[in-house]
Amino acid sequence: MAIIHVAAECFPIAKVGGLADVVGALPKYQNQNNQKAEVIMPFYNLPFLHNHKFTTLYEEELPLNGKKYFFTIKQLKKDIGFPIYLVDIPELLYTDYVYSQNDTLRFLAFQIATLKWITTWETQPEVVHVHDHHTGLIPFMMTQCYQFDSLKMIPTVFTIHNAQYQGWFSHDNIEWIPKFDFSKVGLLDWDGTINPMAAAIKCAWAVTTVSPSYMEELKLKANGLEQLLQHETAKCSGILNGIDTEIWNPETDSYLKKNYKKTSWTTGKRANKNWLCENYDLDKERPLIAFIGRFVEDKGCDLFAELFSNYLSEVELSVIVLGSGNPKIESELTQLNTAFKGKYHYVSGYNEALSHIIYAGADFLLMPSRVEPCGLNQMYSLRYGTIPIVNRVGGLKDTIIDYDKPNGFGIVMEEVSLTSIETAIDRSLQLFQNQLVVKQIRNQIMKIDHSWLASAKKYQQLYKKLKK
Ligand code: ADP
Ligand code: GLC
Repeated sequence: MAIIHVAAECFPIAKVGGLADVVGALPKYQNQNNQKAEVIMPFYNLPFLHNHKFTTLYEEELPLNGKKYFFTIKQLKKDIGFPIYLVDIPELLYTDYVYSQNDTLRFLAFQIATLKWITTWETQPEVVHVHDHHTGLIPFMMTQCYQFDSLKMIPTVFTIHNAQYQGWFSHDNIEWIPKFDFSKVGLLDWDGTINPMAAAIKCAWAVTTVSPSYMEELKLKANGLEQLLQHETAKCSGILNGIDTEIWNPETDSYLKKNYKKTSWTTGKRANKNWLCENYDLDKERPLIAFIGRFVEDKGCDLFAELFSNYLSEVELSVIVLGSGNPKIESELTQLNTAFKGKYHYVSGYNEALSHIIYAGADFLLMPSRVEPCGLNQMYSLRYGTIPIVNRVGGLKDTIIDYDKPNGFGIVMEEVSLTSIETAIDRSLQLFQNQLVVKQIRNQIMKIDHSWLASAKKYQQLYKKLKK
């Protein structure tokens, strides 16, 4: 089956979070499953794109907002497991960041250019699979805009990676959208604004979330879209993300200071932990707890400054935090570097290499997320033998079982608060005292299979159902 994924991010070209990991892996595994999956994304001004070669496939003009934007479609020459096409609109998309204040116009232009190009193909795709609100207007435009009439019968799938961000914009900008029968404007609207995520939920042939539990949670709380999701429940389902087990493999991961196997990991994990502790001035004999992620409230990291200030002096623990985002959280966590030197270290910014070493070297990975549509970090940590400490929500609920339960292997809290995180960390310290159990858990978690194969099959079944 010929599948076109359209998304704002795709690893290794442009990555802000897990969306990129998913769009960079799922198509690869779909192709290994004898499907024909390809990706279309924007051409940004990012290092990967400077260091690689492209073939130009198409050139056109895009009338939008009273202007004409010149655009080209470029194909990456390097093989990354699937063909990838980049929409280059220099005036709008060629930025050294992925997201900005000007995203409505940028991503609208990207979506229109994408569809314009697809209409010129000799063979139409069999499924158009779009991801998050940046591509949420595609199902509407394919079914309603006169210009894209030839794409009307192609099934569309919309995957919600995060319903928090919906891409809202004002009806004042309605004329940016290519011509359609105005009596259908309600398909774009939710609560008086144009809402690309709502439009996608209404217009896509199928809607998925990145874990089954997140779909159920969204029907109760979805930043205003809960009723819409309840109404559209027949076409909604949750399919758990997988991980790219070729990239995330402690045996071959070239970022690691020492590689290790799931059957013999002691010295390898130790070497990575030692490197982290030596580089960041931490005590290597203590349990090392890590956090990696975007600093947004959903991840629970707004509690860290208070948590660590109250708690770190009392416990025998080493902590490493890698992340960026909310400037207030960044500055609070930076200040703790001096106060808790030797016990705690915050590394600011985005660092792919360091993230791999942390997954390998940490003893525990902390994820006190209030909302977690799927979460990939906990699955990477399992693969690297690092025990996750998570809140029971979304994809975390679907992947981690508390070690007190039958077949359990993680530490699971029932809510996110200073007390619940402290209790969870206390439990991890107790667990660490019993190295025999820790060893058993590591042996168990490194064998858990979260590869894409199972989930890629579920998408395949969904596409097949739509084609009938
Ligand atoms: P989200 O997409 O909500 O950020 P996920 O758990 O799905 O959460 O994916 C996060 C991805 O981004 C993982 O690959 C994680 O390792 C990576 N990541 C997050 N923050 C950083 C950082 N500061 N440096 C390196 N990688 C990071
Ligand atoms: C989003 C979610 C995260 C999920 C990722 C990939 O960014 O916040 O939970 O793992 O998308 O689907």
